Amino acid sequence: PKLIVVTREGEEREIMGEAGLSVMEVIRDAGIDELLALCGGCCSCATCHVHVDPQFADKLPALGPDEDDLLDSSDQRNATSRLSCQLPMTDALDGLRVTIAGED
Ligand code: FES
Repeated sequence: PKLIVVTREGEEREIMGEAGLSVMEVIRDAGIDELLALCGGCCSCATCHVHVDPQFADKLPALGPDEDDLLDSSDQRNATSRLSCQLPMTDALDGLRVTIAGED
């Protein structure tokens, strides 16, 4: 599935992800290093915060309680906030557009 990533500078990158990897892993594997993902996907750091295009909101897995708590620690949180390590790439998400959240 295709993933469109908007960096903090507003640059748009189109990358191909492998189904089963998380959105965080796909972004990291593409060499976009501003998504720090410090905990490596354990849902304990919140440095993989992205804003997801609302068009895809109903195709995403539900927000988990830990994810919700972690997002609360961010000043950048809004209604489209998710932790990208908690979003598995699936074919249904082809064309997903995410914007890397600003630094806290
Ligand atoms: Fe740490 Fe997602 S990589 S919470």
